[in-house]
Amino acid sequence: MDEASVDSLEAVDWSFSDADTDQLSTGIHPYHARFIPQIPERLLDIYTEDGDRVLDPFVGSGTSAMVASAMGRPAVGVDLNPLACLVARVKCTRYDVDRLRSHVDGFLGDAEDAVEEARRGERDVTVPEFPDRDEWYVPEVQRGVAALLELVEAVDDRRLREFYLVCFSASTKPLSRSTEDWTYIGDNMHPAADSNRLTPDDTVHDVYGEFRRRVERAFEGVRRYAEASPVDAEIHESDSRDMGFLDDGSVEFAVTSPPYANAVDYARYHRLSFYWLGYPVGSVRDDEVGARSKRGRQSAVDDYFRESRDVYREVYRVLAECGRFAVVVGNSQRKKEEIDTVSRIRDICRDLGFTLEDEVVRKLQRQSMSQKEIPEESVLVFRK
Ligand SMILES: C[S@@+](CC[C@H](N)C(=O)[O-])C[C@H]1O[C@@H](n2cnc3c(N)ncnc32)[C@H](O)[C@@H]1O
Repeated sequence: MDEASVDSLEAVDWSFSDADTDQLSTGIHPYHARFIPQIPERLLDIYTEDGDRVLDPFVGSGTSAMVASAMGRPAVGVDLNPLACLVARVKCTRYDVDRLRSHVDGFLGDAEDAVEEARRGERDVTVPEFPDRDEWYVPEVQRGVAALLELVEAVDDRRLREFYLVCFSASTKPLSRSTEDWTYIGDNMHPAADSNRLTPDDTVHDVYGEFRRRVERAFEGVRRYAEASPVDAEIHESDSRDMGFLDDGSVEFAVTSPPYANAVDYARYHRLSFYWLGYPVGSVRDDEVGARSKRGRQSAVDDYFRESRDVYREVYRVLAECGRFAVVVGNSQRKKEEIDTVSRIRDICRDLGFTLEDEVVRKLQRQSMSQKEIPEESVLVFRK
């Protein structure tokens, strides 16, 4: 990680325009609206000490937990999205790197053979059914991907299996017929709806080659993490409106970038991974705070703030006296009208008993297509 030594929010250039964001295990898998690792790093640097327990109630792909562990702070991450939790667990696992390397070398050889046999139709594989499967993947790729998944699922050791599952999942979009270079699939994007977005039928992706690239990249990430991190992180796959697994006052610091109001649909944006891994897109979306799929409801904005409040109430409960809670959030739009998320979150947290201790605004440099209308975010720091 960068050498960070600052003692106030104002002393930080929050734009991080030139920052190298490929830190530790960050790059093992794409995830929508990830933290730049430097954001939690600076906050932890300012507000925590060695050994402080850190919570992120919307941990997503685990950036804050990864950074906290590398800084010697035991981290607890919570997210209801099973893909996010899978990625976060692998990102925050201290693998025995030599053992992993020797397993990888053997496994890649088996994977190459299995994919080639499946491609030639010489291996029995069961390709799962899912929406628009035959539009997303040409048959040869379907067979290769299914063979790979069967091989990964047969790995006994959970940690090793999850490492390969992350690499597998990261390959599912590049191996599809989508040529968009976004890291996600837009919610209404249908593979056959716009043929310009599809690779021609005769283009057959290199299933093994893609997987191998992902494995090598992930290996480098987990190697850096294992070298840097003195402590482990705990990842809970759970709805953070009820964090009953955490005792009152058991956390010194909380940091999060919450979902924005009706801006993103995390489960649906990563639906190719969900389909292959057998995760349920629908039920995850239903419980997602602010899911984009709920934006048509009359009560969507009120629901977003009510559900967010339930999470912040839990954060208040689990924080120790005088513990701080940093929220990095911006306003979003619904039907072209701005939702004043920042001031509503300030009000909610004050109402729950927090004091607003500090606040800065950060200009956003890079924005995803779905967040084009969000030019800045606020960093709010509350104290219990
Ligand atoms: C902005 S993302 C967090 C990204 C994260 N900072 C990272 O670097 O990957 C917000 C996350 O909130 C999660 N989420 C939404 N509703 C939730 C709920 N009720 N309980 C737990 N997590 C939830 C989503 O699944 C998503 O991963």
